[in-house]
Amino acid sequence: MAMTGDASTVEKEILTRYRARTVGSKALHEEAQEYLPAGDTRAATFFEPYPTYMAAGDGAWLRDCDGNRYLDLLNNFTSLVHGHAQPDIVEFAADQLTRGTVFGTAAEPQVALAKLLIERVPSIEMLRFTNSGTEATMMMMRAARAYTERDIIVKMDGGYHGSHDFVEVSVRADLEASSQPAARLEGRGVPEAVLNAVMIAPFNDLAAMEALLKQHHERIAGIIIEPMPNSGGMVLPAPGYLRGLRNLANAYGVLLLFDEIVTLRLSSGGFQAIEDVQPDMTAVAKIIGGGFPVGAFGGRKEIMQLFNPMVESESLFHSGTFNGNNMTMTAGLEAMRRLDEATIERINGLGEKLQDRINAIFKTLGIRALCLGYGSLQQIHWTDEPLVTLADARRAGEDTGKLRELLQLELLNRGVYTSNRGMFCVSTPMREQEIDLALAAVEGALGQLKPYMREAAPRLLRD
Ligand SMILES: Cc1ncc(COP(=O)(O)O)c(C=O)c1O
Repeated sequence: MAMTGDASTVEKEILTRYRARTVGSKALHEEAQEYLPAGDTRAATFFEPYPTYMAAGDGAWLRDCDGNRYLDLLNNFTSLVHGHAQPDIVEFAADQLTRGTVFGTAAEPQVALAKLLIERVPSIEMLRFTNSGTEATMMMMRAARAYTERDIIVKMDGGYHGSHDFVEVSVRADLEASSQPAARLEGRGVPEAVLNAVMIAPFNDLAAMEALLKQHHERIAGIIIEPMPNSGGMVLPAPGYLRGLRNLANAYGVLLLFDEIVTLRLSSGGFQAIEDVQPDMTAVAKIIGGGFPVGAFGGRKEIMQLFNPMVESESLFHSGTFNGNNMTMTAGLEAMRRLDEATIERINGLGEKLQDRINAIFKTLGIRALCLGYGSLQQIHWTDEPLVTLADARRAGEDTGKLRELLQLELLNRGVYTSNRGMFCVSTPMREQEIDLALAAVEGALGQLKPYMREAAPRLLRD
């Protein structure tokens, strides 16, 4: 869209200040691009004109290579529940480092973390560790196929479960969606053959799921779902929806697979405990590694024993050079021990305050937008209509010009770091005062962006 008048002035002003504050980041990015496509190693961390290169983290705060400080409301996409360099985690990890990072054989630290997770999440009776959430959902889906001897996994339209081929399907919800959206390949290089093994259903629509299962259940191994889809927009499951899925899975003899890679932080037993719904299998990751690369998948013993060569003559193959390595396990165990129920409640309370106050700011400024989420996870949407499906959430972001990108940059200018998705994630070192700082930055940035909205997205303004 061609910018004129106020919108282009606002955009220019935000970019000029960003560039002026981040001269070192720009220089690093220029060098990085020589060696790394887009100067980095993750799609989600790239943004224009160039990402802020962070140099150090301490508790709730980040410092960039130019010396600017930021309140970190992203926390490595929700994984750093204790923020950066939490002293006890550092001490345990440093001690382990002196005794060996990984031995190429079984070692004790993984037993303790497995035990803690199994005690907290009753539907997980046994588990296996991986190095990422991607591998965790991949192995969980493979186990479901092996157990049921069927090929198809149903995923939600707009659901994200990592970057292996079988979940790179319909990651962006279909805006023209009917109740039975067709599976769409999302990324180049993913073979069309994966479409033979994935079906799509809209989130929060039990009737659509029932219709799908009625027709295809004999070929369906399981349903994978994030109980509150985070990159889908933190859209909440409708009351009774997850319970309804459980009942449908039972009725049609398919497995229910929860991806709690992000939502585990919301209660000590994950979102499944909040909703009192037990899946057959669960994938977790992020917070359980204490800041190190991690994933895990687990569930009913009967399914997980497929991986046991002492039980199965043709056991499932699962390997990974750094699976269950001592660093991740030791740091993860301390991180999880520190995340007791009271601590979770405290950060959930801070997240809810953030949500309420951002919604009040939208009202005061006359902006038709809303902040949505649960507890310590919150997300801004550019609509004030209720969101039910993940297509609704995606639609809200359409026709908003560069609003999301400019909000991210202006928050950076004001010392708050988050992604251009407009996501906010509270960590344990935060207190009321950090939330107040975040709110002041959000209020200031939104006020500054109003002239931009008037031209680029007038539907967002009440007057
Ligand atoms: C819900 C969900 N599932 C899976 C993944 C993939 O995890 P990882 O990035 O560790 O591979 C993510 C990562 O953001 C996620 O949010």
